[in-house]
Parts: sequence; structure tokens; C-alpha cells
Amino acid sequence: MLMKDFLELVQKRQSNRKYTNKPVEKDKLERCLEAARLAPSASNSQPWTFLVVDKPDLVKKVGNAAMGPLMSFNKFVSQAPVIVAIIMEKPKIITEVGGRIKKKEYPLIDVGIAAEHFCLQATELGLGTCMLGWFDEKKEKELLHVPEEKSITLLIATGYPPENYKHRKKIRKKFETVVKYNSYE
Ligand SMILES: Cc1cc2nc3c(=O)[nH]c(=O)nc-3n(C[C@H](O)[C@H](O)[C@H](O)COP(=O)(O)O)c2cc1C
Repeated sequence: MLMKDFLELVQKRQSNRKYTNKPVEKDKLERCLEAARLAPSASNSQPWTFLVVDKPDLVKKVGNAAMGPLMSFNKFVSQAPVIVAIIMEKPKIITEVGGRIKKKEYPLIDVGIAAEHFCLQATELGLGTCMLGWFDEKKEKELLHVPEEKSITLLIATGYPPENYKHRKKIRKKFETVVKYNSYE
């Protein structure tokens, strides 16, 4: 379904916590990955690798390693047909030095932007996604053969939501609360 405008797309994207077993078409998945690849990053460092997990057995294991201690938290993840792990790569030296001087974690910001590019493109294609920051990183690294010294910053569960999956109204702080003009005080 094509969106009429960007804000409509932004409204439509929501964290999808139920998936059907309909597989994600490769061309659609790669369109989302392309949107992520084209994301901006500090000094154009592109400090990321998008690791696609689509082998059913492995998806189950990666999904299970994202479950919380109460078992219901993130239980849905293993039902998604695809999980994309975003691995943070070293940025350019200039970004690293700049980040140290300015006390900014540029690669973390970059990965967040790329992740949202992915999710918005997925939404436009009728797919559901959920970014996941809670997972057993050590276990995920073992499952995905990611070297210990690297960081898996985010997982994105991806797949089709059930037809009757409800669109939730966005719960957000008020516009006036989060937007200020010219002076913070
Ligand atoms: C960095 C990050 C980490 C998140 N981690 C999880 C998670 O582990 N499990 C989960 O169910 N949702 C997770 N979410 C989804 C948020 O809960 C969700 O974006 C927020 O409640 C707003 O709802 P919406 O995405 O439906 O608009 C995460 C979102 C972000 C941006």
C-alpha cells in the first residue's frame, strides 16, 4: 500500500509484535536493506553490517535469545520469519576522534537512523517490524558468529502482521512539551 505522504507513513509504522508465517519476499527485504544502506551517518562512516537471519531454525534461536526473564517479554520475536541484526562497525578514524572530543557516540546514532530507514520502508511495503534492544548479546554473537569485540546494536524483527492486527494510536509526549523555539529555558 502506497502512502500518500511521509507523515502518514510515520503514523503507520508501529512496533509489530505478532507475525504470520508468510515469508518475506526477497525483493521487499532487500528494498528495506537498501533504504538502511542509504541512511546518513557521521562523516559518511556507514558503521554497520546488516546481518539477515532467515533460516527458520536460526531465527527461532535468535528470537529465543531476545526473550526477557519473564518469558512473555519479546516472546513474539521467534515467530517473525526474519530477524535483521545490526552490527556496529568501526567508524572512520575522524569520526572516532571527533566522537571522543565531542563526547558523542556517532555510530550509535547512525545505526538508529539506518534502523528507522529500514522500518519505514518495510511499513510502506506492508511489512511489520519491531526494533529490539533487549537481547542476550553474548548468545546472539555465538549464534550468528559475530566476533566478540563487535557489538550487535539492534535486532529488527520483520514479517507480515496478521490481517486483524490493530493499528495503535501513538502514545507520545505532547508537541508543546518536546518542541521549543530559540531558548531551552
Ligand atoms: C532502541 C529501541 C529498542 C527497543 N527494544 C524493544 C524490545 O526489546 N522489545 C519490544 O517489544 N520493543 C522494543 N522497542 C519498541 C518500543 O517499545 C516502541 O518503539 C515504543 O514503545 C513506541 O511504540 P511504536 O514503535 O509502536 O510507535 C524498542 C525501540 C527502540 C527504538
